Amino acid sequence: MRDLRGKVAFITGGASGIGLGIARTLARAGVKVAIADVRAAAVEAAAASIQQEGLEVLAVVLDVSDRAAWPAVAERVERELGTVQVLCSNAGVNFVGATQNATYDDWDFALDINLGGAINAVRTFIPRMIAHGKGGHVVITSSVSGLFTGGGAGVYVTTKFALVGLAESLRADLKSAGIGASVLLPGPVQSELFESTLAVRPPSLAATGSVPIVPPGVAREATAIYKTALTGDDVGARVLRGIEHNDLYIMTHPEIRPVLEARARALVSALPDQAVDPKRIEASQPLLDTSLYTAG
Ligand code: NAI
Repeated sequence: MRDLRGKVAFITGGASGIGLGIARTLARAGVKVAIADVRAAAVEAAAASIQQEGLEVLAVVLDVSDRAAWPAVAERVERELGTVQVLCSNAGVNFVGATQNATYDDWDFALDINLGGAINAVRTFIPRMIAHGKGGHVVITSSVSGLFTGGGAGVYVTTKFALVGLAESLRADLKSAGIGASVLLPGPVQSELFESTLAVRPPSLAATGSVPIVPPGVAREATAIYKTALTGDDVGARVLRGIEHNDLYIMTHPEIRPVLEARARALVSALPDQAVDPKRIEASQPLLDTSLYTAG
């Protein structure tokens, strides 16, 4: 989408961090922005901070995992701002701990929000975008944790890998409708992720095998990873560019190159070194289409 001015964007997890950075950047580019978040006070404060710049923004309280709540939200946004053409599914939670220690509550919590929230966004907004026939763009926030892992965060990594598959599939399936799709793959970004995860976890999902990301007694802001992390606005600028250029992958951290290369090499070198029946190759042509990854 080359010209975003005057278009409407819907961004989940917009109360802070990356979602707020995307919202602010798009609003400054002339986009009418709706930010949705389950933390009501935080989303109102975030909207007020954007309005103070004289920009157009609507705050919506939404639990992205609540399927039943989505249709009314979509109707309200369309009524108040207009047809949504940019959809950013970004809300998420994160916690760490050895994969084998994760409880069913841990799995339910993260899958329902990180993956379920994105599925609900797609189920709600994509049919509307197609019906309006004006085209558009979808950005799904995954993470570098959707591309590789060093262990210790298996629940989060599982949800983020799934989101890469979701975004790539949407890109293939929505092309004919004139709707682009990107997957956002950031490394460390200054945000409220660990606090917001604690704030939104319902008491009914109390059982956990996770451990604190920052050791007790250590201020998050004092950690080297936080001090050197990007800001939400840095990521917002990359997202704006990614939408304008219809980039499949929106990357923010070039330092991940060695890990990406090592993983790609490991995958390719694991292929059996044997001749393949040409008839099998021919029969598999639809599965072997590379155009999603090679088209500019
Ligand atoms: P953040 O905490 O600042 O923003 C996440 C927002 O999602 C919060 O405002 C939170 O209230 C909201 N949220 C959580 N559960 C929700 C629900 N059920 N319904 C609606 N809203 C809900 O954290 P951050 O880091 O900006 O996270 C945004 C996305 O970026 C997440 O998907 C996260 O996994 C991803 N990410 C973050 C990275 C980082 O280093 N901060 C790196 C890579 C990806």
